[in-house]
Amino acid sequence: MSANDSLISELQLLKTQLNEYNYQYYVLDTPTVPDSEYDRQLRRLQEIEAAHPELITADSPSQKVGGAPLDAFRQITHELPMLSLDNAFNEDELFAFEKRLKDRLKRDVEIDYSCEPKLDGLAVSILYENGQFVRAATRGDGRVGEDITANVRTIKNVPLSLRGDDFPARLEVRGEVFMSLAGFAALNAAQKASEKKVFANPRNAAAGSLRQLDSRITASRPLMFYAYSVGVVEGERQALADKHAERLNQLTHWGMPLSPEVAVAKGAKGCHAYYQGLATKRAALPYEIDGVVFKVNDIALQQELGFVARAPRWAIAHKFPAQEEMTKLLDVEFQVGRTGAITPVARLEPVFVGGVTVSNATLHNQDEVARLQVKIGDTVIIRRAGDVIPQVVSVVQEQRPDDARDVVFPVACPECDSHVERLDEEAVLRCTGGLICPAQLKESLKHFASRKAMDIDGLGDKLVVQLVDMGLVKTPADFFRLDVAPIAAMERMGEKSATNIINALDKAKQTTLPRFLYSLGIREVGEATAANLANHFKTLDAVMNATLEQLVEVNDVGEVVAAHVRHFFAEEHNQTVIAQLQELGVNWPDIEDKSGTAQPLLNKTFVLTGTLSAMGRNEAKVVLQNLGAKVSGSVSAKTDYLVAGEKAGSKLTKAQELGVTVMTEDEMLALFAQY
Ligand code: IVH
Repeated sequence: MSANDSLISELQLLKTQLNEYNYQYYVLDTPTVPDSEYDRQLRRLQEIEAAHPELITADSPSQKVGGAPLDAFRQITHELPMLSLDNAFNEDELFAFEKRLKDRLKRDVEIDYSCEPKLDGLAVSILYENGQFVRAATRGDGRVGEDITANVRTIKNVPLSLRGDDFPARLEVRGEVFMSLAGFAALNAAQKASEKKVFANPRNAAAGSLRQLDSRITASRPLMFYAYSVGVVEGERQALADKHAERLNQLTHWGMPLSPEVAVAKGAKGCHAYYQGLATKRAALPYEIDGVVFKVNDIALQQELGFVARAPRWAIAHKFPAQEEMTKLLDVEFQVGRTGAITPVARLEPVFVGGVTVSNATLHNQDEVARLQVKIGDTVIIRRAGDVIPQVVSVVQEQRPDDARDVVFPVACPECDSHVERLDEEAVLRCTGGLICPAQLKESLKHFASRKAMDIDGLGDKLVVQLVDMGLVKTPADFFRLDVAPIAAMERMGEKSATNIINALDKAKQTTLPRFLYSLGIREVGEATAANLANHFKTLDAVMNATLEQLVEVNDVGEVVAAHVRHFFAEEHNQTVIAQLQELGVNWPDIEDKSGTAQPLLNKTFVLTGTLSAMGRNEAKVVLQNLGAKVSGSVSAKTDYLVAGEKAGSKLTKAQELGVTVMTEDEMLALFAQY
């Protein structure tokens, strides 16, 4: 086979596949591969076609914008074609785009851009005649779309008549129909409750809702519209602005909704700054966006630059790194956590997703593995959004190899061979080995030394693991028996860092009862519960000897937590370690000694809201409780103070309505400083 023959067959395969994906995506609304995979194949196709223009055919996916319209809707031929956008996937491609513009313009002008979020929904054209909504259409293949007038009429933020009296006699507004995250969640909850189909993502939900033949169904769906450009314009009464962003503002005057994120930036540099800003803000936006769009702001420049086949030369979409990618599941391993929970972890062929290379993802538990119907060897779709740990979202069943293997859960702990159990009400499998299990031991010791627990400076996770592996530490008490010499002899250590660690250990001995209780790693006892236990019982002995009935009297302690606390202190080996720690000098000030004078906020109720930057909300809660205050989750007439951090929302409004005293984070810190 010649090089050209193999190119032709590759091209044919790409076309068939892309056409199939288009059909699934645009016509059936059920994509089977992530967008990133589609983009990759389209780019490869374009690459081959660019090098061999003679191979371009009229039916190539590069030559059309979308899929064929559904038969049941009337067809509408767009007076002006609805175009698509070229993509940039990184900063270099953005700068290359601007360079192309300047080369074409043959002058080095400073270019302003209208910067807009790339909303992840569907492009729609809406026609107004004499200010009245008369017609709406989907993009379809860019030339012919579907008549969805009855459906778009029902979208809450689409005006049925324009405001004012200076709009053009005929005005076509183009924009995106989409569904907010909250709307999507509510819709899916309702669908689930009535045992109807749940949607995979907000884009699919918007598409499914817009393509209803019964517009009453569309009316019941939480769709939204944002305008992003102007199509046909005839009979202007007020001249349209000569800048794109100003035109968008004109549209808002006539009543069209516009994304609040639209801004004007100078040059590719300014665009990149906008991109980074919106990327940071992305997770907090109430709807999904998959990138940003930059458009040359000056309409005269736009006209000078013109169009290529499917897209304008003067605009580009800078896509965010894909949050979903396909890769191969190489194996499933089982990780044992601090409390013995055994988690299946997917080992993956490394894949770049959400801006980082991912080679592991959690599979959570047995129920999740069953739900996914995943086998080792499968092609899986991985999602990593923001800082969230990577998840396996689904399996591409069609690509399962013949030798795919079942995921088999262990009957014994993979670390210590102890028997594993799954309690009825729990989803997880647990190792029963306790501290005999090296994995549980390591995790417990890491927790003991961590910042919010005993806060042993310099004793990080890696060092803890090394100390356990070398047999130097078997219980938390062993930390305080360490000498400089063996630590100094360890890898990447020396006399100086070893001495620092010994000093840090010495310093950490002076702690507080809440920290000490938290550091023990009792199941379900987090920072706040540890503080509640300490404040309630005042001494360690009292906590250790408390009965179940006494324990459930503590704020936020229910029967489950009480049982875990009892169970922990009933274990003889735990009692021994606690006694040894105290013998080795671990101590804390007596809480009772400070009562009276140290509880100046007794009987005062506080609510914390918004982001507190100097100390976290949990930490502030503990300090307040130590000072005798009650910390509640919601504002009521009984609230004495609301501490409002950054981005405080409805709680702040409610407090203001009820006349509750509001203090800033700084005022709270000043209050703490008094005591
Ligand atoms: S402008 C002449 N602006 O992205 C350029 N499109 O890949 C036409 N989209 O079909 C599109 N947000 O569905 C434009 N602010 C925005 C957009 C946007 C989302 C979608 C739209 C379009 C697709 C192009």
